[in-house]
Amino acid sequence: MDIDWAALRTAAAAVAARAHAPYSGLRVGAAGRDRDGTVVAGCNVENASYGLTLCAECGLVSAQHAAGAGPLVAVSVVAADGAPLVPCGRCRQLLLEAGGPELLLDADDGPQRLGDLLPAAFTGDDLARGQGGGNA
Ligand code: THU
Repeated sequence: MDIDWAALRTAAAAVAARAHAPYSGLRVGAAGRDRDGTVVAGCNVENASYGLTLCAECGLVSAQHAAGAGPLVAVSVVAADGAPLVPCGRCRQLLLEAGGPELLLDADDGPQRLGDLLPAAFTGDDLARGQGGGNA
């Protein structure tokens, strides 16, 4: 599958410009596409109660479901200047559920597999195993 990384980066930078980041000053945009080419995007939304901040990837994953898009196959996360950012740990976990370990993430040195950035991740399989353990 051919991924137009320049287009994804452009979409991520465009949504970064609409971020609400008055506290950190770091505007972040995330854009992703599914297998069919549907592109969805999100930006970070900060809050005066700092811990309530929503990362750009939260908006991206919400947009994925709102749009009825399929699993994401490629994601670009950028700052307002268009330079790629690595997703924080929590967002790697969010993206894992949104696309799986083969999801490709934009990076300066070329796309990286999410599974390489979040090895041995907790997934729904672990949840099911725990629920079958009889410790409820
Ligand atoms: N941020 C994201 O949107 N995504 C990440 O993966 C890392 C951090 C945001 C959250 C906060 O608004 C700002 O960047 C500074 O941490």
